[in-house]
Amino acid sequence: MTSRTRIVISSDHADIELRKTIAAHVADKGYEVEDIGPMTSESTHYPKHGEAAARKVASGEADLGILVCGTGQGIMMAANKVKGIRCGVCSDTFSARMIRQHNDANMLSLGARVIGEGLALDIVDAFLSADFEGGRHGTRVDMIKAIEE
Ligand code: RB5
Repeated sequence: MTSRTRIVISSDHADIELRKTIAAHVADKGYEVEDIGPMTSESTHYPKHGEAAARKVASGEADLGILVCGTGQGIMMAANKVKGIRCGVCSDTFSARMIRQHNDANMLSLGARVIGEGLALDIVDAFLSADFEGGRHGTRVDMIKAIEE
């Protein structure tokens, strides 16, 4: 993706500081960032934040999305319920690169209670710097899309 890519970022209360750090990091790289909160650490519900970010990606308002919750799992599950979303949880850079290259993932989810800040930022970089390869992978992604119909 190019540095003009629009990125939407959201989380639950598990680690709003990590989300803000990721937002600043991505903005520093030249991406257009929309951080849709939440802005306080008050206990909240990850499904609504995953859905809100996913709807922005699905509608084309954002090109890619980044999510954070405790494990990355719950908010990923909510995002993947929105038609057109392909979101994966990553705790390593290889997977983050591959979900772009092979699965055309349009959202990345991170577990703030699983990985540290340094690895989280490396994973974000790996995700954003990889592009979908198409070809046989396109056939498979089309098969995923067909399940939604
Ligand atoms: C919140 O305590 C926690 O359950 C949530 O952040 C996430 O890990 C859910 O998948």
